[in-house]
Amino acid sequence: MSTVIKFGLNALPPFLKSRKYSTLFVLVDENSKKHCLPLLKALLPAHQVVTIKSGERNKTLKTCEFIWEVLLKKNADRNSLILNLGGGVITDMGAFCAATFMRGIDFVNIPTSMLAMTDAAIGGKTAIDFLNYKNMIGSFTTPQLVCIDTQFLKTLPTKHLVASSSEIFKHALLQNKNETNTLLKKPFLLFSESEKLAIIKKSIRFKMSVVTLDSLDKNLRKQLNLGHTLAHALESYFMLYKKTLFHGEAVALGLIGEAYIAHRFYSLPYDLFLSIVFWYDLNFLKPNIKEINFNTMLKLMHKDKKNDPLAIKMVLLESEGHFAIDTRVTHSQIKEALKFMSDF
Ligand SMILES: NC(=O)c1ccc[n+]([C@@H]2O[C@H](COP(=O)([O-])OP(=O)(O)OC[C@H]3O[C@@H](n4cnc5c(N)ncnc54)[C@H](O)[C@@H]3O)[C@@H](O)[C@H]2O)c1
Ligand SMILES: [Zn+2]
Repeated sequence: MSTVIKFGLNALPPFLKSRKYSTLFVLVDENSKKHCLPLLKALLPAHQVVTIKSGERNKTLKTCEFIWEVLLKKNADRNSLILNLGGGVITDMGAFCAATFMRGIDFVNIPTSMLAMTDAAIGGKTAIDFLNYKNMIGSFTTPQLVCIDTQFLKTLPTKHLVASSSEIFKHALLQNKNETNTLLKKPFLLFSESEKLAIIKKSIRFKMSVVTLDSLDKNLRKQLNLGHTLAHALESYFMLYKKTLFHGEAVALGLIGEAYIAHRFYSLPYDLFLSIVFWYDLNFLKPNIKEINFNTMLKLMHKDKKNDPLAIKMVLLESEGHFAIDTRVTHSQIKEALKFMSDF
């Protein structure tokens, strides 16, 4: 089933009216409760609010147990609906809880961070982290509706806005030279509100076009893993040492590390490799990953869902809009990239 996306919160009341759910639950974290729920409340019939703690470190089975427990205590049934109101942590975990509660109840994603709008809330991947491995437990389950309203971004902290521009840049690299060059013009924060809106909408359309062609990640969708082999290992590494690294920050680093491999050992031209590093410098500070242990990183990469004990695979860019999926890379190539990432 393909995802239905509507722009603007006004799409919600007619949807709810047409479905007649028995009970309505809104899943929030403390930030989306404070900043986003007030914008939604007037549009909702009677509902119950389930609040969890924000942040990737809470995207765990323990939090799911809490959510399932609240649903049970508040008499949720198979005809209940969960509205996931928040960033990618809320949409990933709320969707997973809905997909598994009583063998699956309906859910709607209402993304409030830019990353969730352009990426996490779309495409039907649900997940939680497990034993410090990113997105290890999850399912493919399509929301009944994704309702996107960019007014939520007014309260999103700048650091999250900047970090999540890396998924937008990834989409641009996978699309064409035009989109890529737009994002190389200036730091993301310096685009006007209307420019940002246009960039966000194009990014959403691109992600939709890819997941529509390959919803189960068997082939074409794998391109969206660009930068993510290194990014997920970095995130797991930081989780292991109880340090914070936003998903978008990890993706930004992953994009330059994987571009290094694509240029040094494969066919990515030097000027595009330099452009990717230039984009990083436009938006991010130099990374502080000097102390990182390369062998631990390699072990984490082998545990990534995309890989197996014998091979680490990456999506390697060839030029804007062209890439090779499932490219096997060697440990020494990865170590060289990690070295480049830690002191470029
Ligand atoms: N399922 C997928 O296809 C997919 C794709 C990409 C990323 N992801 C996942 O998404 C997650 C990252 O998402 P994220 O960057 O949104 O992280 P997040 O959910 O942690 O949100 C970032 C921070 O912003 C706060 N916040 C969100 N919206 C706000 C608003 N409007 N105003 C004020 N504060 C707000 C949150 O409370 C949180 O503190 C990761 O777990 C990643 O694995 C999933
Ligand atoms: Zn991502």
